[in-house]
Amino acid sequence: MRERGYFRFGGNQGDNLIGFSFAIIIARKNGLYNNSKMSNKRLSGYFDEKADCILYEGDCLELLSSIPDDFAKLIITSPPYNIGKEYEKRLDIDVYIEQQITVIKECYRVLSENGSICWQVGNYVDNGEIIPLDIVLYPVFADLGLHLRNRIIWHFGHGLHASKRFSGRYEVILWFTKSDEYIFNLNPVRVPQKYPEKKYFKGPKKGELSGNPLGKNPSDIWEIPNVKANHVEKTDHPCQFPVELVERLVLALTNEGDWVLDPFVGSGTVAIATLMHKRKALVAEIEKAYIGITKERLNQAITGDLRIRPLERSIYNPDGNNEYVPPKSVKIDFEEIPKGSIKE
Ligand SMILES: C[S@@+](CC[C@H](N)C(=O)[O-])C[C@H]1O[C@@H](n2cnc3c(N)ncnc32)[C@H](O)[C@@H]1O
Repeated sequence: MRERGYFRFGGNQGDNLIGFSFAIIIARKNGLYNNSKMSNKRLSGYFDEKADCILYEGDCLELLSSIPDDFAKLIITSPPYNIGKEYEKRLDIDVYIEQQITVIKECYRVLSENGSICWQVGNYVDNGEIIPLDIVLYPVFADLGLHLRNRIIWHFGHGLHASKRFSGRYEVILWFTKSDEYIFNLNPVRVPQKYPEKKYFKGPKKGELSGNPLGKNPSDIWEIPNVKANHVEKTDHPCQFPVELVERLVLALTNEGDWVLDPFVGSGTVAIATLMHKRKALVAEIEKAYIGITKERLNQAITGDLRIRPLERSIYNPDGNNEYVPPKSVKIDFEEIPKGSIKE
């Protein structure tokens, strides 16, 4: 494996499976595939405007350079945090920031005029001192002219127990828009009211319900369990974010048919949340093992076997009544994703 900064290159990660693709084409021509299982949705290993899902097996900068200006409606990612996870080489913070700037500038270029960028980050820890990456990266986005709409606190209950500081139980999503004209669909992401029966007690609306019957705004503090060992979505990827976190952003910040980009897709979470809501996915991952996980999860979603934690399930409350909402099965309309390379 050769390395260029934190950008890892997996050598022959695109195992040459042209023979495999060829076999599929021949099988299709000979009618060996059950047409009822075929979908008209298209997968591509490279940028292709006519595809429905682009899964680039390699460095995101290569994918980004092939995308035209003003293309993606939403960019949502959790980049490497430079904390020495198995997929990253720990770098001097200045070098790390420089590399992030290169990717962020490219993301800005490919973001559509009414589009949004959501950068999900935690803390870089240096010798016991924390450096919040959202604070460090904010000026990079602001200098590009992006507008910060929310600094969303993603709060979760599980993690390492610190002994010399309070245990960290949140990460941040910086949501920026490129302009003042942007998509924001609140209704699909409303959450139940705390007191749905509450009524105005005086004034001209006296007796009417005071809250929106569709639910309330979910606010900028999101309590969503992180993907740890017992989470129904857990894979071998060390740093997944939950599908429900991405679903909320996809539903609020895009419309059906829009392109959603994740330059660091890891185990494929953004691709899953995007395709299950009839948007198009444009994602890159450099590590062969994680590309394999992404493909496996997508194939499970195609057969209806992928299980996710439902958005509707509330956080476990040790003192209260916990209504059990079972895991949801995801089903997306797509043809089988080949296990080998999809680069042609
Ligand atoms: C924090 S993880 C993303 C996890 C993802 N959100 C998920 O739910 O699985 C960051 C990912 O970026 C990948 N990565 C690092 N450098 C990359 C590059 N230059 N191009 C593409 N992917 C890269 C790593 O292999 C890792 O899987």
